[in-house]
Amino acid sequence: MRIGILGTGNMAGALGGRWERAGHEVRCGGRGAFAEAAAFGEVVLVAVPSHAALDVVAAAGPLDGRVLIDCSNPLVPGRVALHTAGGPSMAERIAAAAPGARVVKAFNLASSEVWRSAPPLVDGVPLGVPVCGDDPAAVATVGRLVEDLGCAPVPGGGLDRAGLLEATAAYLIGLWFAGVDARTVVPPLASDNARPTLNSRPEDGSGRPATARRDRP
Ligand SMILES: NC(=O)c1ccc[n+]([C@@H]2O[C@H](COP(=O)([O-])OP(=O)(O)OC[C@H]3O[C@@H](n4cnc5c(N)ncnc54)[C@H](OP(=O)(O)O)[C@@H]3O)[C@@H](O)[C@H]2O)c1
Repeated sequence: MRIGILGTGNMAGALGGRWERAGHEVRCGGRGAFAEAAAFGEVVLVAVPSHAALDVVAAAGPLDGRVLIDCSNPLVPGRVALHTAGGPSMAERIAAAAPGARVVKAFNLASSEVWRSAPPLVDGVPLGVPVCGDDPAAVATVGRLVEDLGCAPVPGGGLDRAGLLEATAAYLIGLWFAGVDARTVVPPLASDNARPTLNSRPEDGSGRPATARRDRP
């Protein structure tokens, strides 16, 4: 697959390097070369700070039909807060700025150092990567790129859930800076007595399986 990356920094190097080693053709573009990288890619990763993302997407030129991956975390510098708070998520803003593109949110929950590890494992288990998007084919494409890193794609719902991923990242980064291991805050599924059954289905649009709704506040 041809992957264009808008940006030449940490995430571009980490993800682009791993995808190249998995056999993909990768072209990164920095300032002045965003359009070239975008034109190259069937898939385009936006890997610039969120405050620059909309301008960079505009500078990238037409993105119609492209799978456009947003990995950004729209953090307020120096604070555990989102500068998008109270409005659309960063992924939705990028989708509005590139109306023909098929935007997918992914890769924002782990640091570039994690993406550089081959493969990223947590206690020997492949890292799960939530993938949010409205276009099933685009989500499937990003899922394959997740697998190419040695990770496991986690269906994350539509792009309307991207804001939850962005808020989750902000909270996890706050824990990380406080020296708290997130695994002590989010226990493994096997330890949860309210574990949903395979037949449980969200019935009320809450996104929570019936079992979980019954047993937990
Ligand atoms: N780093 C992580 O661990 C991590 C993890 C998850 C998600 N993310 C997200 O990934 C994205 C990229 O992060 P990163 O750490 O890879 O960033 P980075 O290393 O700082 O690289 C940023 C890239 O964007 C370019 N850039 C910066 N400001 C720009 C502007 N105003 N206009 C145009 N281009 C600009 C930089 O160009 P110059 O070199 O010319 O300045 C560079 O190519 C961010 O949205 C971040 O929230 C990062």
